[in-house]
Amino acid sequence: MALYDEIARFYDPWSRSVTEDVGFYVDQALASGGPVVELAVGTGRIAVPIAEAGIEVIGVDSSPEMLAVARAAATAAGVEGLVDLRLGDLREPPVPERVPLVICPFRSLLHMETEDQKLQALRAAGALLEPGGRFVFDVFAPSREDIEETHGLWLEREPGIFERAVWDEGARTLSLSVRSDGTEATFGLHWLSASEWLRLVDEGGFEVEALYGWFDLRPYAGEEDMIFVCRRRD
Ligand SMILES: C[S@@+](CC[C@H](N)C(=O)[O-])C[C@H]1O[C@@H](n2cnc3c(N)ncnc32)[C@H](O)[C@@H]1O
Repeated sequence: MALYDEIARFYDPWSRSVTEDVGFYVDQALASGGPVVELAVGTGRIAVPIAEAGIEVIGVDSSPEMLAVARAAATAAGVEGLVDLRLGDLREPPVPERVPLVICPFRSLLHMETEDQKLQALRAAGALLEPGGRFVFDVFAPSREDIEETHGLWLEREPGIFERAVWDEGARTLSLSVRSDGTEATFGLHWLSASEWLRLVDEGGFEVEALYGWFDLRPYAGEEDMIFVCRRRD
């Protein structure tokens, strides 16, 4: 069973409050002209709005259950013809097409445990791009306050949906558990600092065009969130 299969049915209610990134990624997609590849497409939270803006999306995810929810969401929105969902690992995406934009929203690259795995993912994204194409992704590194406020506590994030963050600062790993209706899943998020990401992105064959600290395009100034806009070096 894939990592997110168990929580696929309550992923959307769980992440309901996460809306700040949608317009940002839709704008990136419109600027590229498409098609767009979304790595770790999940339930289509970003892919469906991109398709609603008229841009074709190829979405890759390793969870069949998340893809099933995405398929239903695309159909419900009437954009199933623009959303092509494929089961696979984002490090070896089943995508022979070349596109002007690859995205990996909502911290999904942090599911890559090691630097080597992150680099593999960056290189895989680069290989999908047309010359001069862009890879846009967001990640985070927690603040001390965030760790202190949440460590080990079950918090009701949405009605009936609980989450618990267990932070290991030495290993720089967040074990995030999500629970609803007797179903529970735990997954790891493995963070890096901005300077470590900059080094990896360079090694992965990209130049950083912009590094934002939030989706309103404010420049990164040490915030938790980092939004990278990278152009493939040709
Ligand atoms: C936080 S969700 C993000 C989903 C979507 N991009 C969004 O913004 O809502 C992370 C997704 O990454 C997927 N995932 C985790 N590891 C993966 C891998 N190695 N290859 C492909 N997908 C993966 C999970 O199945 C899950 O759907």
